[in-house]
Amino acid sequence: MATPIDFNSVLDTSNLKDRSVLITGAASGIGLACAIKMAEAGAIVTMADLHDTAGGVIQGILAEKNLFDMVPATLPNPGDTPPPAPSFACVSVNLEAVYNTCYLALHHFRLPRAAATTFKPSIVLIASLAAYIGYPYSTTYSMSKFGVRGLLYSLRERAMHSSIRINLVAPWYVDTGIAKQPDFVEDNGAVLNIIGFVSMDRVVDAVVRFASVQELCGRSVGIFPKGSEDLLDDLEGGYGGAIVSKHMREVQAVVVQEMQKQMQT
Ligand SMILES: NC(=O)c1ccc[n+]([C@@H]2O[C@H](COP(=O)([O-])OP(=O)(O)OC[C@H]3O[C@@H](n4cnc5c(N)ncnc54)[C@H](O)[C@@H]3O)[C@@H](O)[C@H]2O)c1
Repeated sequence: MATPIDFNSVLDTSNLKDRSVLITGAASGIGLACAIKMAEAGAIVTMADLHDTAGGVIQGILAEKNLFDMVPATLPNPGDTPPPAPSFACVSVNLEAVYNTCYLALHHFRLPRAAATTFKPSIVLIASLAAYIGYPYSTTYSMSKFGVRGLLYSLRERAMHSSIRINLVAPWYVDTGIAKQPDFVEDNGAVLNIIGFVSMDRVVDAVVRFASVQELCGRSVGIFPKGSEDLLDDLEGGYGGAIVSKHMREVQAVVVQEMQKQMQT
């Protein structure tokens, strides 16, 4: 098993100086924070987004509800045609776009000029803890994030043989534009009032660490309320789900205890 990564150790970002970095979804939230940090480290950052400036309305990342709740439970006309097909936008934004971006990144990384440099280029996937556990409020969100983890598992070995690295960051809730959507607040507000968000700094640190530390490939980190922890996904077959589920049981216990307290007062 690989040695656990210490996400509290001091990070040296000097090898990012003058490196080219492309960040998708960079106009706000996690993408923007990573872009700023990479630029501070001296990287040449290209920011890609649907919007030119921060604060655009976010469509797609968390577009659909649980499939069970999306099903009409009544027929408009008894015996009529089946209900219309459900929308799938979240998978298109969160998975198909990531798949396409990985394809383009691998193309550029494999060009002879890039392959000749000693720096090992890197893809950092932003998944979510919902990549390991079912997120009950959106089926397509969970599906898409499980799919992003599938990209990590399926690509990492082949990529590593060409000195290309791929790693994954799985955050708990972070206070960004997504967290301000009314549906999100309605679904997650009670838990967030008890547990709170994780800090953006810890998410950014993990992203920058994976981008710069040359030894890291095929790894993942959970950004948990209690701290950032190596999920122990590795090329030797470690499986991050066990660590995520341990943390989620702890979170659930705190939420249940707090809710019981509130009901008694
Ligand atoms: N905020 C959280 O609680 C949280 C937790 C876990 C994972 N994540 C993941 O982090 C990533 C970033 O989310 P965030 O919280 O920073 O959200 P955010 O809403 O602050 O930023 C998302 C950005 O992506 C852009 N975007 C949306 N669709 C796009 C598209 N098709 N092409 C290009 N850009 C597009 C938006 O314009 C926006 O600037 C997402 O993949 C999200 O699932 C977020």
